[in-house]
Amino acid sequence: MAKLKIYGIIANYMDNEIIILGNWKMSLNLAQSLVLAENIIEGFKPRKNIQTVICPSTVALTEVEKIIKGSGLALGAQNAFWHAKGAYTGETSPEVLAEVGVKYVLLGHSERRQFLKETDSMIKQKILKCLEHGLIPVICVGETFEERKDNQKDFVIMHQVIEALRGIKLWPDQSLIIAYEPVWVIGSGQAVTPVEAEHTAQVIKQALFDVLEPEAAKKTKIIYGGSVSPDNIAGFIEQPTISGALVGGASLTAETFLSLIETIK
Ligand code: PGA
Repeated sequence: MAKLKIYGIIANYMDNEIIILGNWKMSLNLAQSLVLAENIIEGFKPRKNIQTVICPSTVALTEVEKIIKGSGLALGAQNAFWHAKGAYTGETSPEVLAEVGVKYVLLGHSERRQFLKETDSMIKQKILKCLEHGLIPVICVGETFEERKDNQKDFVIMHQVIEALRGIKLWPDQSLIIAYEPVWVIGSGQAVTPVEAEHTAQVIKQALFDVLEPEAAKKTKIIYGGSVSPDNIAGFIEQPTISGALVGGASLTAETFLSLIETIK
């Protein structure tokens, strides 16, 4: 426990840029995606201390990129494959994502772990390939309700972080982000408390120091996701080990997404 506290203190001294990612999932068709991107751009005011990212579906990436170019908004993808080229029908190459202007890639989202049976080892290979192509992986980890009920939460999360990152070395110009998303909270409208999210973020920080070089562990940001809204975002951002949020439902209208960002001091 004492060790966790020490890491919490280190987190206070890290680069303090906040990152907010909107995960549009498969919620919108192409026309709706373009309208949402345009509406966000209309009201978007770039902020020095906040990096704002939108993650449309793969098909919408190139058109959304044209809309947001030069606005200060960054583009994120929702997945990538672990090879850049080859006979992998239906997959999306990290090289091509970088080519179309993507900067961030969500990896290991619980919906992919659940519906596509993604494993920690697949996620690790994807992380490596994304880093190789200059992308910033946003690695999603989180416990199910059953795991939480069985008091397995911290163990499950440490395991996911360590298995995804074991043996990975970050060059000074490479970075990654861990998104803590309690699976049972996603889309429920009921987030965990900021204090609980902070506790888990400290557990993740500990795992990062266990598995990465100290410099890499120190600079790796941890964000919270799961029913984040304009009403609760401030509580999460105030926590010393939480550097931002992964936002699903509340990123699907320009009004809620922009008001969520404006709430951040
Ligand atoms: P939510 O989704 O904000 O709708 O809970 C978050 C996510 O799945 O990334």
